[in-house]
Amino acid sequence: MDKDILFSSFQLKNFKLKNRIGVAPMTRMSSPGGSIPRQDVLDFLVRRAKNGAGIVYTEGIVTDYESAQGYPGQGRILTQPQINAWKPVVEEIQKGGAIAIMQIFHCGRIAWQEINPANRVIAPSPIAPKQDNPLTGSPYPVPEAMSLFDIEHVISGFAETAKGAVAAGFDGVEIHGAHGYLINQFLSSYSNQRTDGYGGSVENRYRFAHKIIQAVLKVIPEDCLLTFRISNWGVADMEVSLFDTKEEYQEIIRLLSKEPIDAISVSTYEYHQKAFGTNKNMAQLTREVTELPIMICGSIYDHASSDDALKDADIVLSAKSLLLNPDWVEDVRANKTLHRYKSEEANIAYTETPLP
Ligand SMILES: Cc1cc2nc3c(=O)[nH]c(=O)nc-3n(C[C@H](O)[C@H](O)[C@H](O)COP(=O)(O)O)c2cc1C
Repeated sequence: MDKDILFSSFQLKNFKLKNRIGVAPMTRMSSPGGSIPRQDVLDFLVRRAKNGAGIVYTEGIVTDYESAQGYPGQGRILTQPQINAWKPVVEEIQKGGAIAIMQIFHCGRIAWQEINPANRVIAPSPIAPKQDNPLTGSPYPVPEAMSLFDIEHVISGFAETAKGAVAAGFDGVEIHGAHGYLINQFLSSYSNQRTDGYGGSVENRYRFAHKIIQAVLKVIPEDCLLTFRISNWGVADMEVSLFDTKEEYQEIIRLLSKEPIDAISVSTYEYHQKAFGTNKNMAQLTREVTELPIMICGSIYDHASSDDALKDADIVLSAKSLLLNPDWVEDVRANKTLHRYKSEEANIAYTETPLP
């Protein structure tokens, strides 16, 4: 019998993963008030570790109290009580045999002004997404173009949040550079029309990501993982390709590969979809220009799709399947015929209904 690659171990820096399966980051909007997710949401992550996932990502944690937040009830890890709340969760995830990685991000122009104490929406350039904010039913406000002070300040928010993750014992931190949020907004000429050192050429648009990576590296220990998530699509104006060409995307991957990061996490709608008018998918285009481990996500829902995705990547991440099916890892191992969940089915994530 052929080796089951999906259930074989993978060496990610100093961590030997028990399999190639990770729980993708999933925002749950469950943290009113203290920016600490509800206990059942934290328990859910522990259960996914105990039920077989090799990596457990947290939801995207916002990086400041000023302008980072895009959705109600998002988490932060900037205060001792927030750190204390995550500590036992991390310990239990690790006891369950998985590694725990905290995803951190700033929403930029997708932020929701009224729920940010500074009442600001900031972005590389004063350009709003074309579509309305689905949560407010109103147009997204035109963001303020970030000053150099704002840029430095936001970068320190990433570093402070990474410090919080380290204090809580996380094995790794992920910088969320995907889905049209702030870092992605800098990378993409769709939202970045700056004329200073942070706009124009790909290298300039990449500068913000570079500075964040460097700032985070300074505050995390040598053995802490650092991953970077990237995508060619954003949560607003979803139909827009955020990178103009395959060459532009690959140049960014090359720049990322020069950083001492440990993996690139590629987020897609469907892992096998061909990209940029080529006959290659996003993982293949990524693999062409990097030696870094690649995680791939997007409509991976059973053993066959996992195996297929692993032809071009090292680790598969699943969101909806692991959200809605607590036994997903074992069901995949047993090669069961599995349901491919739709986005609407995942909306339960944002309700108070505890998930099994
Ligand atoms: C409820 C929910 C919340 C999500 N929140 C995040 C998030 O915080 N950060 C992120 O990078 N992706 C987030 N995503 C996207 C997923 O990580 C994943 O990329 C996407 O759902 C596609 O994977 P799937 O087909 O396995 O569901 C979220 C997805 C869902 C369903």
